[in-house]
Amino acid sequence: MTRTQPNFDHIARPYRWLEYITLGRALEQCRLHYLPSLLKRKRALVLGDGDGRFLAQLLAQNPRLHADAIDTSATMLQLLRERCEALAPNASARLNTHQSDALTCPLDPSYDLIVTHFFLDCLTQPELGTLITRIAPTLSPQAVWLVSDFQIPTGPMRLPAKILVRTLYLAFRILTGLRTTQLPDHASPLQQAGLTRIAHRHRLAGLLITELWQLNPTPP
Ligand SMILES: C[S@@+](CC[C@H](N)C(=O)[O-])C[C@H]1O[C@@H](n2cnc3c(N)ncnc32)[C@H](O)[C@@H]1O
Repeated sequence: MTRTQPNFDHIARPYRWLEYITLGRALEQCRLHYLPSLLKRKRALVLGDGDGRFLAQLLAQNPRLHADAIDTSATMLQLLRERCEALAPNASARLNTHQSDALTCPLDPSYDLIVTHFFLDCLTQPELGTLITRIAPTLSPQAVWLVSDFQIPTGPMRLPAKILVRTLYLAFRILTGLRTTQLPDHASPLQQAGLTRIAHRHRLAGLLITELWQLNPTPP
């Protein structure tokens, strides 16, 4: 069955400002929180990085890293490339961009870093399962997967978080045609693929999470 692709082209340029107006710098803080742990990584697969604010920082701070960036939006990829080339030395030689669906695009065999910031929430649960099953065989022995996403916390923030997430999904449906309506659970399929959560950090009373998952982590 053919999937209806969302189209983020129209919101690619204002995306950054829409984010700042809605949630300030909280998403940015999530994206960058574990960046210092990634400076020895050599081969990254970065899915749906949008306008490239994270990848530009990663390439700038880790000059040995080569990255494949995959996104369905041509405008997002253009902004990502411009930002990476402006900020990171030699970025044009270290970065490959592919305008493609992450669920079907060809993948290289040995990534030691996967990055999905606020991207997995574009997928349904079965799509997320498919994605993780596709990527798992490409991981090198101690690969790391960096995930940031929304979540519905327990406690007093539960209802406000549900309302906000529902409103964001409605806004993305109107602006991009995104059909997903619920946050998928990434923890179970990552665990099934053999990854272990080695670090996590919450923001905005648990509404946002950023997590590091690793294949075969070395015991402390
Ligand atoms: C919600 S934005 C997140 C952007 C950025 N990662 C961030 O932290 O804000 C989702 C991004 O994923 C891309 N995208 C959505 N579905 C996709 C898919 N199936 N394959 C590849 N990219 C996709 C969109 O074009 C967009 O750039």
